[in-house]
Amino acid sequence: MAQTLPSLAFLGAGSMGGAILRGVVASGVPVDGGIIATNRTAEKAASLDGLNGVTAVALESSPEGNRDAAASARIILVGVKPAMVPDLLREIAPVLRDDAIVVSLAAGVTLATFAEGLGESARAIRSMPNTPATVGKAVTGLARGAAATTDDLALVRQLFELVGAVVEVPEEQIDALSTISGSGPAYVFLLIEELTKAAIGKGFSESDARLMAEQTFIGATALLDASGDDPAELRRRVTSPKGTTERAVSVLQDAHLDEVFARATDAALERAKELARGE
Ligand SMILES: NC(=O)c1ccc[n+]([C@@H]2O[C@H](COP(=O)([O-])OP(=O)(O)OC[C@H]3O[C@@H](n4cnc5c(N)ncnc54)[C@H](OP(=O)(O)O)[C@@H]3O)[C@@H](O)[C@H]2O)c1
Repeated sequence: MAQTLPSLAFLGAGSMGGAILRGVVASGVPVDGGIIATNRTAEKAASLDGLNGVTAVALESSPEGNRDAAASARIILVGVKPAMVPDLLREIAPVLRDDAIVVSLAAGVTLATFAEGLGESARAIRSMPNTPATVGKAVTGLARGAAATTDDLALVRQLFELVGAVVEVPEEQIDALSTISGSGPAYVFLLIEELTKAAIGKGFSESDARLMAEQTFIGATALLDASGDDPAELRRRVTSPKGTTERAVSVLQDAHLDEVFARATDAALERAKELARGE
């Protein structure tokens, strides 16, 4: 775990930028030089009031806020919507420190776009976090741009480890990673919804059905986390030979869940390619 972090600027601290910002603050790790977070509206800036060590800036009252924040920070996290990224990069490029590391949170925006906006020598790192960052349980993929060093990557890794686990991948694999961990929370929620429906179908009230399905997922994943055992081994322990669970699991396996997940993630990957082509 990081002992200290260098100065940070969050340009766009909404759902994702804000989750990482809150995770850093909650960790209590000292940030030398402080944290500046910019947003467009005063309302969004006010929502960050009271976070220890954070200066929240609203661009509607401080139009130079992004440039000032970027100029002062060692690590700059870009958390605006993907379509806004190129303009923001052009705006901050002239003021960046020589040792600045620019970290993208923006889905689908390539390191080539960062090099175009900031110059080839700018140190850029592309990240793909997921929404459990809000509760410190993210999986974040990190891909290093050509000008970023291994030390830069290690520093950014320490930052994201404050909100969960980190996987380092080459940029070509970021979209594939996104089909697993980026979209993954949606797959889990869908499975919970479907198990809830099965319970309602067996005559339980909606609230009891939700409790049973939701707490089963929460309990099973907590057991997986706490035990450190393989999921296949944990499954074996609830599956007595010739028992009821074995019968249910064999129905699920007959539905070829492996193929369904392969097809679903292939479809997400195809969509990422379409989005990159602007479709
Ligand atoms: N949410 C996710 O699950 C997720 C996952 C992975 C990656 N991401 C990426 O994270 C980025 C942000 O997504 P989000 O869901 O966090 O969106 P969001 O909640 O709308 O956050 C964007 C923030 O940027 C602020 N903003 C707008 N224009 C700005 C500017 N010119 N300079 C500085 N700040 C500005 C907005 O402030 P106002 O509200 O005041 O306008 C808002 O707080 C996107 O690029 C997305 O691809 C999101």
